[in-house]
Amino acid sequence: MPRGLFITFEGLDGSGKTTQINRLAAWLKKRGLKTLVTRQPGGTKTGDRIRSLVLSSRSKGLAPMAEMALMFADRAQVIAEVLNPALASGEIVLCDRFTDSTEAYQGGGRELGSEIVLELHRLICGGVQPDLTLLLLPSLEPSLERARRRNQRAVEESGEDETRFELEQEAFHSRVWRKYREIAAREPGRVVLIEGDLSIDEVHGRIVEAVAKRLAGVGAGMLK
Ligand code: TYD
Repeated sequence: MPRGLFITFEGLDGSGKTTQINRLAAWLKKRGLKTLVTRQPGGTKTGDRIRSLVLSSRSKGLAPMAEMALMFADRAQVIAEVLNPALASGEIVLCDRFTDSTEAYQGGGRELGSEIVLELHRLICGGVQPDLTLLLLPSLEPSLERARRRNQRAVEESGEDETRFELEQEAFHSRVWRKYREIAAREPGRVVLIEGDLSIDEVHGRIVEAVAKRLAGVGAGMLK
């Protein structure tokens, strides 16, 4: 059985990733392709516990190195429990964030640098590398505003608080943004950068174009 396809979604908080992942999953399923959606941090029972630890504003004073190590602990779990089995059985996996997030947020935002993130990726993730990464980068301020509103609603509705990163200052998010652009420039074969304030339909169109191209290139072509 041919290995499946591993597609990751990246971007700032509030960049519309979740909407686009759901739309792409529906598009793939309509074409009869077995598709699995997962996310980071989270995506497994253990990962969900790591997620609440790392995203809660109660985790004050979490050292950047500890934060990065938790992101990789979560990733090791999702690889073992979700990614490896799904890819081995030929499925398409859509993952909301992966190592590029660690490079952008901990490497860029927290200023740990790219080198340590890439080294840990090599050691912990082994050969698990996305076949395609869709990087959504609309303008910074409106994205952050959307993320803040959404988190505020979540806190009001469920008491769940995932605001640690939204509470960061503008300079942090600018560093994340710059690091994402650096990754896209470094790996143009893997990363498709979708910039600017496009409509949901326009972004979906670009994503479908990139995915269809990739599917046509896989073996005999997964897309009938
Ligand atoms: P996510 O749930 O994707 O948030 P959003 O839907 O707002 O984009 O991700 C949660 C946060 O975790 C996000 O602010 C980015 C951060 N994060 C890191 O800092 N490093 C990582 O390695 C990952 C996977 C996420």
